[in-house]
Amino acid sequence: MSIVKINVLTVPPEQRETLEKRFAARAGAVEGSDGFEWFELLRPVEGTDTYLVYTRWRTEEDFQRWMSGRGQAAHGGGGGEQGDRPKPAATDATLWSFEVVQQAGPKQG
Ligand code: HEM
Repeated sequence: MSIVKINVLTVPPEQRETLEKRFAARAGAVEGSDGFEWFELLRPVEGTDTYLVYTRWRTEEDFQRWMSGRGQAAHGGGGGEQGDRPKPAATDATLWSFEVVQQAGPKQG
């Protein structure tokens, strides 16, 4: 089954809007990638200042390929323009990795 990679971003309340706008501006950065299955940006509702960037992939290799190619580009890497990058809205980032062991969706029909 698929694998799930969740990037956990710590975002101070005053930076939320900036973060969400930056993600919106990069919509489409991942959709066409081989093995890509799902993406969601999850905004915290209460009790935490961490956003979750949920992504699901066919295999670990598909994720690694995206990270070292288009994913890096989507994060401003590889262009040699590091000096001009705006300050990140997130103050911390941690990557969580999972294997899907069971899943369900609504019954069809
Ligand atoms: C699980 C896969 C992902 C990883 C490991 C990852 C990695 C990171 C890291 C380390 C940061 C914080 C540092 C920085 O600002 O550059 C970040 C922020 C960001 N990522 Fe990702 N990312 C992932 C998925 C995605 C996807 C799918 C998109 C686009 C749809 C995306 C777009 C962005 C944007 C717009 C920011 C905001 C930068 C900021 O202002 O803080 N990321 N990501």
